Amino acid sequence: MTALRAACRTVLDASWRPTDGFCPPNPTVYPHQWLWDSCFHTIAWAALGDRRGVTELGSCLRGQLPSGFVPHMRYLGPTVDRGPLPDRSSYTQPPIYAHAARVLHEAGFALPVETLPAIGRALEWLWRDRRTDDGLVYLVHPWESGADDSPRWDSWIGLDSYDRDSYRDVDRRLVTDTVYDDDGAARWSHSFVAAPAAFNALVAHAFGELAHLTDDSMWADRSAELAASIDRLLWHDESGLWQDGAIVGGGSSVAVPTLDGALPLLVTDDAEKASRVLDQLLDPARFAAPYGLRYVWADHPRYDPDAYWRGPAWPQLNYLVWVAARRWGRDDLAAEIAGWSRAAAVRSGFAEFWNPETGAGRGAIPQGWAALAAVYP
Ligand code: GLC
Repeated sequence: MTALRAACRTVLDASWRPTDGFCPPNPTVYPHQWLWDSCFHTIAWAALGDRRGVTELGSCLRGQLPSGFVPHMRYLGPTVDRGPLPDRSSYTQPPIYAHAARVLHEAGFALPVETLPAIGRALEWLWRDRRTDDGLVYLVHPWESGADDSPRWDSWIGLDSYDRDSYRDVDRRLVTDTVYDDDGAARWSHSFVAAPAAFNALVAHAFGELAHLTDDSMWADRSAELAASIDRLLWHDESGLWQDGAIVGGGSSVAVPTLDGALPLLVTDDAEKASRVLDQLLDPARFAAPYGLRYVWADHPRYDPDAYWRGPAWPQLNYLVWVAARRWGRDDLAAEIAGWSRAAAVRSGFAEFWNPETGAGRGAIPQGWAALAAVYP
C-alpha cells in the first residue's frame, strides 16, 4: 500500500465508530453522521478494499423514514436544530448512496439485500415529493445542497458580499420558514425553494446508477427525463454552465459561476454543452488552479480562495467532476484532477477543503472525505 493510501486509511480509522458503523466527518467539528459524507467515506473504503464501506452505507440509510425520505444528519447525542425530528435532520442531502452502492458492487463487495430497495424508496421520495411543476427536483434549505454558503444562495440570503454570520442567521430562520410533512420531513418553504443544477444532476445520476444495479428501465427513463429537463431549463449560455432555478425567493445569484454548474456533465447527452464546460475546468482564469478545482471562477468578484464555500477546492466535488471527466473520455482532465487532489490531500493535512492557489488546508483537519484521494489510480 502506498503512503498516500495508508494515510487515507488512517484518517477514516481514526474517526470510525464500530458500534454505530460510520465515521463522523471530523469527530470534533462535525460529531454526527452526515449523509453525503458517509457515502463518500463508503467510496473511499471501497478503494481501500475495506468492507467497512458496506457497513457505512447501510448506516446512513438507517435514518430513512417509512416515506422513503433519508435525513441529511443523524445525531450522536444531543438534538441539533434541523427541524422537528429529535434524532435526525428533517432535511436531506445529495443522494450519493446510489453511486456509492455501484462503487461497492464494482469493487466486488456484496450488498445486503435491503440496500437497493432502500435506495429505490429514497429516490422515489425525491421524484414523488420533491418536484416542481416543470419536473425539476427542488430543495428547501441550502443545507440540502451540501454547499451551505455558496454564492449561488446570496440573493436568498439578501447579501451583496459574504458575511458568515448573516448566513447563519438566515439558515436558522429558514428552519422556521420550512413546511414539514406529517412524518417531520421538509416538504416546502415560504422563503427558500431552489432547483439547483448540481442537485438535479446528482439525482439523475443516482437514477442511472440504480438502473444499472437493478436492470429496471424505469430508473433509466427517469434519469434521461431529468437530464433533458436540466438541459432545457437550466442551461446558461452566457457563462457556459448550468444555473439553478429560483422557485421561491432568490434571483440574480443563481448564475454565479460555481462548480455546481458543471455537475450536469454527469448526465447530459449534449456534447456541445459538455465541451464548453469541460474546457473551463482546465482554464486557469476559471476553475483550474495549482491545487484545483476552484469552486468559483478565479476572475469572478465573489471568488475568495479561503472562505467556506466561496472559492476553495473540495475533495468530494473534485471526485464527482473526475467521474464526469471519465464519462466524457477526458483523460487529460481526469489526470489533472487526480494530481491536484492527491497533492492537496497531503499538503492540506487531509483537510475538509483547501485554498486552491496554495493547497493550504481549511475547515476541519482531518476530514473523512479527504480519504477520497485513495480512489485515484
Ligand atoms: C458542512 C458542509 C456539508 C457537509 C458537512 C459535514 O456543513 O457544507 O456539505 O456535509 O459540513 O462535513
